[in-house]
Amino acid sequence: MPAIAQTAAQTTTQTTTQTTTQTTDPALGRRIFDAGVGRDGRQVIGRAAGGSLPMQGGAVACANCHGANGGGGGEGWIEAPDIRWFALSKPYGARRAGGDARPPYDRAGFARALRSGIAADGVALDPAMPRFDLAEDEIDALVAHLQSLSDAAAGGGERPLLVTLMPHSAPAAAERLLRGLQTCPTAGASARAVQTLPALRVIRYGAADDLDTRLTALAGSGSVAALFAPYLVGAEAAFAGNDAAHRLPVLLPMAMRDLGDDAQVLFALPGLGAQAQALLSAPERRGERLAIAIDPEIAGREALAQRLRTRAVRKGWEVEVRIGADAVSMSAGVDAILALTGPGEPVAPVSPRLRLWVPAAFVRPAALDAWRAAGARVRIALPYPPRVGGDPRWIPPADAWVAAGCELMARLPPLPQRPDAIDAWRREVAALAPLRLGDWIDLPADADADAAIRRVHLDDWPPDGR
Ligand code: HEC
Repeated sequence: MPAIAQTAAQTTTQTTTQTTTQTTDPALGRRIFDAGVGRDGRQVIGRAAGGSLPMQGGAVACANCHGANGGGGGEGWIEAPDIRWFALSKPYGARRAGGDARPPYDRAGFARALRSGIAADGVALDPAMPRFDLAEDEIDALVAHLQSLSDAAAGGGERPLLVTLMPHSAPAAAERLLRGLQTCPTAGASARAVQTLPALRVIRYGAADDLDTRLTALAGSGSVAALFAPYLVGAEAAFAGNDAAHRLPVLLPMAMRDLGDDAQVLFALPGLGAQAQALLSAPERRGERLAIAIDPEIAGREALAQRLRTRAVRKGWEVEVRIGADAVSMSAGVDAILALTGPGEPVAPVSPRLRLWVPAAFVRPAALDAWRAAGARVRIALPYPPRVGGDPRWIPPADAWVAAGCELMARLPPLPQRPDAIDAWRREVAALAPLRLGDWIDLPADADADAAIRRVHLDDWPPDGR
């Protein structure tokens, strides 16, 4: 791009958009889309009818044919397809008679379709779709705009949605969890349940600040009924720190730690706080010393530490709270350690009286084995009973989560048709009877703190049969 044009483009960027760090100008993309007005106010030219008939400006605005939100337009004799980026960037079955399945568009394929009218499958687009004289930066701006229409559709479509959050580069275990929820067995469920299993809109997030942006957009859209079983392992602090997130109910989160005191969490397995309190319900030890070691990353750790300290002091412990990752290694001088942090290996042999208590999120078998070998007695807390019936094998968290998630989906009232009915729907969900999975998991919508503590399962380390 010539230097002068570049300077002009940058000036436009600075004066017309509030927040953008890229050189792509989303406002430019929106103007081309809505009004056919390109960079520096020029009228975009499009040639319809196979390239012969030039039209410009508003006459060739994408919105005219593809709809104001890009979701497609049905007027006229040929349908203009959905061109929101999520639609373009996924493969489609053959759209035209005789056509092949269409591969996904990328930026280059998109540019070719706009300039030369060749679709991603290599076939010429219908002449009703104009051929445009768009510059590189205008194409980039359009792509950015179509992406933002995708995000708006994900969060801001008219129909209320159940949204599942997943990390972009999710661990394989997380992908399996998601597949489990998307293919819930329906064999045992009633016919009604099968019909009404709601669709889950999956939204992927990258780093913590990306999760932040997405949560804010989702809460702002006003059409997210609830976050269903979001995968927040490792992202609890980012979630808890986002104010907008607290306006969205969270159903059955896959989180290893609590989501902060303000979150509206329904059907949650007992969190870190409940597990820690259950571990503290061991017999009274008047005058003995307890160290509570807390990972600095834990959301709401000050409040949690205060609650735990109060509870322990009431039971007669002398309590010391330590914040920091290596807090556990310093076992000298205490009788028990409640480890709300990954227990590093012990630094030296420990007193045989030492007790180490560890909630599920921090269970690292090798480290716990080392503590056992060094002489400590180790006890762990789990959010659900890890075995069922006479089977000695442990049930992994993913299986428990999918089982509860599928049961919950089958039980949810049908999603409302319009955003103004979301509040009533949420009240119905909060009033649902507890989820019962045989005599294995029993999960009320909103467990009070004491009930949550009672549902924690305590086990000695190593567990039997390991
Ligand atoms: C006059 C109506 C009209 C206007 C204006 C128009 N399009 Fe289209 N567009 C169509 C039609 C009709 C098709 C479908 C052609 C076909 O199926 O062969 C289409 C197809 C497309 C496709 C291919 C989609 C696919 O699934 O293969 C893309 C991409 C696209 N348009 C983008 C745009 C953009 C971006 C703009 C604005 C810059 C725009 N269109 C303006 C009518 C229009």
